[in-house]
Amino acid sequence: MKEKYSEKKILITGGAGFIGSHVIRLFVTKYPNYQIFNLDALTYAGNLENIKDIENAENYHFLKADITDAGLIKALFQKHQFDHIIHLAAESHVDRSISNPKIFVDTNVTGTLNLMEAALEIWQGNFENKLFYHISTDEVYGTLGETGLFTETTAYSPNSPYSASKAASDHFVRAYGETYDLPYVISNCSNNYGPNQFPEKLIPLFINNIIEGKTLPVYGDGKYNRDWLYVLDHAKAIDLVFHKGKNKSTYNIGGFNEWQNIDLIKLLCKIMDKKLARKEGKSEALITFIKDRPGHDKRYAIDASKINAELGWKPSVTFEEGLKKTVDWYLQNPGWIEAVVSGSYKEYYKEQYNGI
Ligand code: NAD
Ligand code: DAU
Repeated sequence: MKEKYSEKKILITGGAGFIGSHVIRLFVTKYPNYQIFNLDALTYAGNLENIKDIENAENYHFLKADITDAGLIKALFQKHQFDHIIHLAAESHVDRSISNPKIFVDTNVTGTLNLMEAALEIWQGNFENKLFYHISTDEVYGTLGETGLFTETTAYSPNSPYSASKAASDHFVRAYGETYDLPYVISNCSNNYGPNQFPEKLIPLFINNIIEGKTLPVYGDGKYNRDWLYVLDHAKAIDLVFHKGKNKSTYNIGGFNEWQNIDLIKLLCKIMDKKLARKEGKSEALITFIKDRPGHDKRYAIDASKINAELGWKPSVTFEEGLKKTVDWYLQNPGWIEAVVSGSYKEYYKEQYNGI
């Protein structure tokens, strides 16, 4: 890849989380001449184990900080003089946003604002070789009917407190671009899956429950569609958008891989039965249909033709391959799961699933 600049000081927020950890690893290993700062508050979703393999790299630095703390964020920007920000830190789980929406506004909206304010303060109107890259979601577009795809010009119509907070932050980033000339790019991605995903999200939750022989709680009738992308393919898309994306534009990122939940769950059950050498059908028998998620979006599907045409990106991992890699990772890392499902996870699980 031809680089715009040989050395960069990049702040990546949320680098101890699921997607952030893959982005951090990619940047730290691929660009030894970049200084990578990982800023993370280490909430329940942040886990330094996710990036243990690169923690001693010379170009990697960890900053424990909360993006809602405007004073601390400004002080860190003054101290380190970042010239690029890749912003992933967020509250990211829809179900948690339904039971506790306010923290989603604090982190996702106010936190994003704090980062942009701090960037404007240190850049002082000199935007050469500067960039604020905001990582967002396809959920801002709301829900699709039976047909059609989300494009970059689809109107925003968020339905959950999570997606409303992400939509608000996208609007603020765009507004800072228009009002203060902040150089920015935004990408809106579909559902990610892969190693290190917290087991509150569908795929890791169901893998863990199958391992433990626990109920698989399917919301509603399971006839909801999502477009799944292997997390490393997202990280590679972020790399491309960061280096080659057009200033003040947005890119949709998706897997060209739409699945109805119930079909995906049945496929996962088959893979798990094989991997665990269990009789076929054993995992499927754990499926239980439960009360639907309020405001549950029926269907997401991304038209990723812009990033494909402009930047040459397309997913490289097939779903079958990605799911197998993911299952293998969880089976090979029981210690990782054990650590994250202890403590507060137990209370969350009990409340969310009424003890089933
Ligand atoms: P995650 O929940 O796994 O990780 C979030 C990280 O942010 C954690 O490390 C957490 O400690 C950190 N964080 C949370 N609040 C913070 C705060 N106040 N200050 C500093 N750090 C804080 O999330 P993820 O699934 O990796 O998602 C990362 C980003 O990608 C989010 O912005 C999300 O909206 C977006 N996204 C996610 C998906 C997906 O399928 N997971 C898809 C599209 C977009
Ligand atoms: O589309 C991108 C978004 O994908 C990201 O912005 C979010 O951060 C990420 O959490 C994800 O949101 P979803 O709500 O689509 O993901 P989740 O894994 O929570 O749910 C996927 C589907 O599975 C959804 O239709 C709800 C259903 N589901 C989920 C859980 C946790 C169940 O049926 N049962 C469950 O227990």
